[in-house]
Amino acid sequence: VDPTLIQLEVVTDSTNAQLLSRSSTLRSGSFCIAEQQTAGRGRRGRQWISPFGSNLYLSGVWQFEGGAARLEGLSLAVGVCIAQVLESFGFRGVQLKWPNDVLVDGRKLAGILLEMSGDPAGVCQVVVGVGVNVRMPSCAAQSIDQPWTDLASMSSEQGLESVGRNEMVASLVDALSRLMVEFERVGFARWRAAWLERAAFMGQAVSLQTANSEIRGELIGVDGSGALTLRVGGEERLFYGGEVSVRAV
Ligand code: BTN
Repeated sequence: VDPTLIQLEVVTDSTNAQLLSRSSTLRSGSFCIAEQQTAGRGRRGRQWISPFGSNLYLSGVWQFEGGAARLEGLSLAVGVCIAQVLESFGFRGVQLKWPNDVLVDGRKLAGILLEMSGDPAGVCQVVVGVGVNVRMPSCAAQSIDQPWTDLASMSSEQGLESVGRNEMVASLVDALSRLMVEFERVGFARWRAAWLERAAFMGQAVSLQTANSEIRGELIGVDGSGALTLRVGGEERLFYGGEVSVRAV
């Protein structure tokens, strides 16, 4: 798949912000890739620590017709796509935590942030941002408030050759471009089984944080739209995206 535009930045605020600011004018499959972000964005309004020259920061933008409902489950499908790219380089044990963290041994290796613009009921744009820890410098590591890992540590733990960032970027751009074409056609159902195969905490007790409450239950899986299924007090309940995230209890 030939992407329309690749914008390479040495230092930028946020690759997501770059694409979002002109998302309605960009063709589907345009990417922005940076060496450093000064205002990297994470989920739930968090900062994404983005030091120079060591990790991967990339975003792509796509136009979608038919409204935001057609994007249900997309962030989970993107997680599967990233996991499959990592596996194609030989990495093992990559897991997905709902909705879309990429973990290895419970430590975060990559994060995904989807941001929308346009008309939620008509033509809209989705920016898919991916941050992969490749070789986290120790000065930046001190600012990260959750367990994390990077590809350099995984390569040495798993006895693999170290991966070049250029190769990894090329594979991600290619895989994401293919994913988006296919997703627009068939939706999340095609990725559900692959997501479940890699699901972290399956069958385990988890807690789900929402903006103002915490729900505990057993993680059962996800439905065909990507909603999380928990067994809470003997009853199966579905939870949708937004400001919620799962953690083990
Ligand atoms: C998360 O909180 O897990 C999501 C992190 C997403 C980070 C990536 S880095 C490239 C893109 N640009 C951003 O500002 N954020 C995303």
